[in-house]
Amino acid sequence: MTGAASNLPAVSGTRLLDRLERLARVGAIDGGGCRRLALTDEDRAGRDLVTGWMRDLGLAVTVDAIGNVVGVRPGLEDGPPVMTGSHIDTVATGGRYDGCLGVLAGLEVVQTLNEAGITTRKPLAVGVFTNEEGARFAPDMMGSAVHQGSLALDEALDARDRDGVRVGDALARIGYAGPEPVGAQRAAAFVELHIEQGPVLDREGIAIGAVTGVQGISWTEVVVEGVSNHAGTTPMDLRRDAAYAAAALAVEVRAIATRLGPPQVGTVGVIVPEPNLINVVARRATLTVDLRNTDDAVLQRAEALLADAIDRLAAAEGVGITTRRLARFAPVPFDPAVVELVERTARGLGLTVRRLPSGAGHDAQMFAPNAPTGMIFVPSRDGISHNVAEHTDPAQLEAGANVLLRVLLDLAA
Ligand code: HGY
Ligand code: MN
Ligand code: MN
Repeated sequence: MTGAASNLPAVSGTRLLDRLERLARVGAIDGGGCRRLALTDEDRAGRDLVTGWMRDLGLAVTVDAIGNVVGVRPGLEDGPPVMTGSHIDTVATGGRYDGCLGVLAGLEVVQTLNEAGITTRKPLAVGVFTNEEGARFAPDMMGSAVHQGSLALDEALDARDRDGVRVGDALARIGYAGPEPVGAQRAAAFVELHIEQGPVLDREGIAIGAVTGVQGISWTEVVVEGVSNHAGTTPMDLRRDAAYAAAALAVEVRAIATRLGPPQVGTVGVIVPEPNLINVVARRATLTVDLRNTDDAVLQRAEALLADAIDRLAAAEGVGITTRRLARFAPVPFDPAVVELVERTARGLGLTVRRLPSGAGHDAQMFAPNAPTGMIFVPSRDGISHNVAEHTDPAQLEAGANVLLRVLLDLAA
C-alpha cells in the first residue's frame, strides 16, 4: 500500500447509492424492495449488472461451478486475496440492502483505490455468492459453503425447490455454471459489510456493529399426512386434520422459544395445506421450522422439544409426520483480532461502535473456519429486514463502506 495512513482516501457515498439504486431496479417490487430469488432471471440480470461493473473496474472475474462470481484486484504480491463480498439474491419480499450493500461496498472500495492509485500488498477480491438466502433452495449460504468446502458441490447441485427444479439445472439455465473449481479457494482474510437486520444498533443510536459471530441455525421441513374429508359431514373425533396439526405445531414452536427465553427464536415461515380449500379437511400440510440460538446446547434443546411436540401431535391427531433437515449450522465465532480491528477502525473514524452477534446467517460464517474473518454492521431502521421497508440512511451506508475500506487496507497492506 502506498500513501501515509493519514491521507487515506474515502469512498464516494453518492456512487455507492447510485449502484444500490440501479441494482434495486432489477426485480423491483412495490414498496421499493426486490424479488431476485436465487437462479431466477432476475438473479441473472443482477449478476450480469454486477459482473459488468467488476470488469469496468478492471477486476479479473471468475465464475465457479456453483455460480459464485469473484472479482480479483492484483496486489504487489501474489497469493490468497483479502476478500470481501456478500450476496445479491433476495427473499421474495426483500429489501435493497440485504447482501447488496456488501457486494457494492466492495466494488466502491475497489474504485476508490483505483482512483487513489493505491495498490495493496495482497490481492483484494470481491465475491458474489450464490443462493445466500436459501429462500428457494436450501440450505442457505449455499454458494459460500461450497466455495469454502463445507458443502459438497454435488449435494448443492442436486438441491431442489418446491417445484422440483434442481439447482444445477437452474444454474446452467441462467448461464452461471462456471469453470472455476470450488472447495479449496483460500482467502487471506474475509470481511463482510452487511445491514444488521435487527433492532440493536438503531435502538441504541450506534453507527457500526463489530460482529462477534453468527448464531446457530436449524432449518427443518415438516410434512403432515392426514386424511382428506368433508368439512361439514366429518365429526371432530373422526378427523385426521393435517392443517390443524401444522397450525398446532406453529403454536408449539412459539411456545418452545418462549419457554427457552431469549436469545432463542423460532419461526414457522411456510405452512402449505393441501388441497387448501375452504370445505375440505386437509390431507397434507408442509411447514418449515427455523430455530436459532447463540448457544448450541440450547439450540439442541429446542430441536429436542420440537421433536417431542411432533410426536405428541402425531399421536393426538392420528396423522403421520415426517421431518427433513434443510440446514444446520452451529454458532460461528469471528476472529477476535478482526473484531477488534473493526472496532478500532470505527473509533478511528469517529464513529460509535459496539460488539454484537449476528441473528442472521451470512456468507462470512463459511470463511471463518479457514481464514481470519469478521463482519461490519450498519443499522437497520426499526430493525426491519426481509421486508421491502428495509432501510439504512445514506450516511450510515457510507460510514460502513469507509470502515470496510480501512479494514481491508489494514488486512491487505
Ligand atoms: O436466513 C438467514 O439468516 C439469511 O438471511 N440467509
Ligand atoms: Mn444477507
Ligand atoms: Mn437475507
